[in-house]
Amino acid sequence: MGPAERVATVFRARFGSEPALRVRAPGRVNLIGEHTDYNEGFVLPMAIDRAVRIALRPRSDRTVLAASLDFAEEKAFCLDDFARDGPGWLEYVKGTAWALAEAGHRLIGWEGVLAGDVPIGAGLSSSAALEMAAARAFSAVSGLAWDPVPMAGLCRRAENEWVGVGCGIMDPLIVGAGREGHATLVDCRSLEMRPVPLPAGTVAAVLDTSTRRELTGSAYNERRAECEQAARLLGVEALRDVSAAQLHARRGSLPEVVLRRARHIVAENERTLEAADAMEDGEARRVGRLMNESHASLRDDFEVSSPALDAMAECAREASGCYGARMTGGGFGGCVVALVDEAAARAFLDGVGRRYRDLTGLEPTLYLCRPEAGASVTRVGE
Ligand code: GLA
Repeated sequence: MGPAERVATVFRARFGSEPALRVRAPGRVNLIGEHTDYNEGFVLPMAIDRAVRIALRPRSDRTVLAASLDFAEEKAFCLDDFARDGPGWLEYVKGTAWALAEAGHRLIGWEGVLAGDVPIGAGLSSSAALEMAAARAFSAVSGLAWDPVPMAGLCRRAENEWVGVGCGIMDPLIVGAGREGHATLVDCRSLEMRPVPLPAGTVAAVLDTSTRRELTGSAYNERRAECEQAARLLGVEALRDVSAAQLHARRGSLPEVVLRRARHIVAENERTLEAADAMEDGEARRVGRLMNESHASLRDDFEVSSPALDAMAECAREASGCYGARMTGGGFGGCVVALVDEAAARAFLDGVGRRYRDLTGLEPTLYLCRPEAGASVTRVGE
């Protein structure tokens, strides 16, 4: 049974009726454009066919009562009194409610059952999926208009200020605004979005190294600070405003490490724009080459890869049917994404799994992902 059926079944058993609403919010994989979002640059993610699901009904009081099947826990909080309750899944729901309330929305309580099949902590945005699922649930029960762009901004605020993780806008935005069958080129300054299809005959493979990173760890914030320092020293608002030629001309004004961080961001923005064009032109090889270059830059200049991610990217490139592969998400563990020939995809996964196991002794999880639509809600009877 998938998570959609499981939440509905448990809802019936626990609350004695059909759920009035069913919410789905997908995870995402980023094809290219890494660590560029908080530099007001470009990203090219897609929402995937793995999601957080909530089956729920409104309540007549100000309580939110939620049961998580993944954590085997039922918890509640009151919309009149937001208090932190230690780390845990409920804080993502509560933080989202807090951010919506802070924005002046009048919220109504609900009760429901949650479950998902987005692997947690793998770099596929399980937390943004949970927050955007909560945002859809609150919007539906409270009669708020649904626009994924401002909602993504509020979920980002929840993650930054309530959960305490300094992420950018990419994850909640693509979780909210993903387009079926397409990746989306996002300008993280204007939030303008351009859907782009994957090249015909290709598929995205997500290759989970089974190693995990801690996003709250200091490295992510350190990279952000280095990028901000680079922008300051170069006299621009964000690294988005710097071209490769400008950076080269001013290279003497940056400390060596800061220069390498900036070099990654500037080149990654250019690669991401080129990859979107190449995808539209159906040029899988060109997209793959850009993905490989992105990985090298993240490994050598930005220094957010890991031995497991490097090994997985190598295994992918050695397998037949692979156009290119790179680490995806924040880094230091989690997943590699590869662009693969659809006809060869199954054999590709088998080959990569064998090779990675031999090389590292780790047991990977490998799957193909379809680009899906962003967060949605269905009312009973629809
Ligand atoms: C994490 C953050 C995103 C983005 C990526 C790196 O996933 O949540 O905002 O910065 O890292 O591209």
